[in-house]
Amino acid sequence: MSSSALLPTTRVLSLRDVAVDHDGHRALRGVDLDAHAGRLVVVSGPNGSGKSTLLSVAAGLLVPRHGSVEVRRGARVALVPQSTPLPPHLPLTVADIVAMGTWARLGAWRPARKTDRALVAEAIAGVGLTDLTRRPIGTLSGGQRQRALLAQALVQRADLVLLDEPMAALDARSRAIIADAVDQLTATGAAVVAVTHDPGEFRRIDQRVELEDGRVVVSRAGA
Ligand SMILES: Nc1ncnc2c1ncn2[C@@H]1O[C@H](COP(=O)(O)OP(=O)(O)O)[C@@H](O)[C@H]1O
Ligand SMILES: [Mg+2]
Repeated sequence: MSSSALLPTTRVLSLRDVAVDHDGHRALRGVDLDAHAGRLVVVSGPNGSGKSTLLSVAAGLLVPRHGSVEVRRGARVALVPQSTPLPPHLPLTVADIVAMGTWARLGAWRPARKTDRALVAEAIAGVGLTDLTRRPIGTLSGGQRQRALLAQALVQRADLVLLDEPMAALDARSRAIIADAVDQLTATGAAVVAVTHDPGEFRRIDQRVELEDGRVVVSRAGA
């Protein structure tokens, strides 16, 4: 456990007794979960245990059938989903997608400044996509697309970052890049909730949550 986990910090996300149904099938039940600024919560569990559903609820994309979901007022939320189907000819490059992250802070209609461009380039480098900066987003692999969205979250200075299996199907080098980016997010004060099959991929975990059949079966501090 990191020493920072002993200090109080701002709660950014709070789920209480959350239940979600998908087509009459109960995908989550009785779920409690908190995320705090500067901390990493890692969620694991078997396929179909409700991990992606949990992130959708936290992102406000799904309304729970029961329970409450609270996100700190004014918090910027970034969701990096497992897969984002996009047409290959969508005329947006990696740089465009990442630059959108600056809009949340600066407004879309203000001309981009040199510092913005530097920030975007830095974030793209931070997720190891510099060589693909000018590539249309739809031509990237699923993992590369996730990394572009992660760079967008870095640029956005999101307060709550929700990552759905960001390291799945990546080689060791790319996993290390993602682990660095997650460290950078928490170091700059973001609350991060990351779904993974292998918690060992992360260097420092503040809270471990395990789901089974839609329920939290383990929730404990530290790795
Ligand atoms: N859009 C959906 N419609 C119907 N059932 C769904 C939908 N999304 C997920 N489910 C079901 O809800 C359960 C939890 O799914 P999910 O949250 O994707 O699990 P995980 O991410 O842990 O693999 C599974 O039984 C899955 O089949
Ligand atoms: Mg999933």
